[in-house]
Amino acid sequence: MTGSNRPRGLVTIPMFAEVLDALAERFEIDAPCGTATHIDWTADTLAARAQGAAGLLVAGSPRIDAALLAAAPSLRAVCSMAVGYNNIDLPACTAAGVLVSNAPDVLTETTADFGFALMMATARRIAESEHFLRAGRWTHWAYAMFAGADVHGAMLGVLGMGRIGQAIARRGALGFGMPVIYHNRSRLPQAQEAPLGARWVDKATLLREADHLVLVLPYSKESHHAIGAAELALMKPTATLTNIARGGIVDDVALAQALRERRIAAAGLDVFEGEPALHPGLLEVPNVVLTPHIASASERTRRAMADLAAHNLIAALTGGTPPTPVNPSVLTLRQS
Ligand code: 8YV
Repeated sequence: MTGSNRPRGLVTIPMFAEVLDALAERFEIDAPCGTATHIDWTADTLAARAQGAAGLLVAGSPRIDAALLAAAPSLRAVCSMAVGYNNIDLPACTAAGVLVSNAPDVLTETTADFGFALMMATARRIAESEHFLRAGRWTHWAYAMFAGADVHGAMLGVLGMGRIGQAIARRGALGFGMPVIYHNRSRLPQAQEAPLGARWVDKATLLREADHLVLVLPYSKESHHAIGAAELALMKPTATLTNIARGGIVDDVALAQALRERRIAAAGLDVFEGEPALHPGLLEVPNVVLTPHIASASERTRRAMADLAAHNLIAALTGGTPPTPVNPSVLTLRQS
């Protein structure tokens, strides 16, 4: 196809030039962010810009809902370069015949590396001690200075035992001799549990027994505030909590209070309710390590995520088979 007959694609995030080039070979590409600029998409701006587009390449934040689909009736595919797709109304997309794809697998190990690093930084008080040092407050050495909690041999708790949860459990069990307990809606088959020495427990037991609890579950209505005041109250006062999943899974107000009152020892947070805004209470307590939603951000992995999203978009708009569809029933319907 040539010129204006080619399908239109809208890329809503700053994107690798090579990925934009590959898309532009096949589609009319609207990439207002280019390779660097960021745009804060309001629902209205996105709806206006998506008019006439056959495909969207998005990341984890803009809301793709029935209102957007109504405003952009030519849409046939929404391809996200994130594994989590809680920003996308899947039933609405499926009902409208819009294929949705995400970007799983390519980020599993990178995200697990980061989750483990954040948990270690939290347990061993790395950020807190660096702030102390940078502030010029290190005047003498003391044996109790920034004494934290051991990671090796401690009880690792994982809430949400999908691909990333299992990769974190593997690091803990095989690298750090940690016994692993986990809670998940469904228990893993024995063959997957055994190499990790992982034991399924109910949620209350997980909260009570974990020395280091890592959250890796998808965000949904059911997981909203899965960790609030009541759950934090069950945790050991020496325990740490690490969230690399989604803001909203933790009640940040309750967490800030628990940290302030030392009801748990410390937290490591990569995601926040209402990010990029943060609950101010989290900035006031020293016992929290804060990072700006970067768990999957290694250069190689970000590129792999973008490539996968682009492959999905190309396949979805050219009659191919998208590698990682979330609602593949749309493809079946298209073929019938
Ligand atoms: C993304 C993520 O970086 O994949 C996910 O679900 O949370 C991160 O890897 C973020 O969503 C932006 O796309």
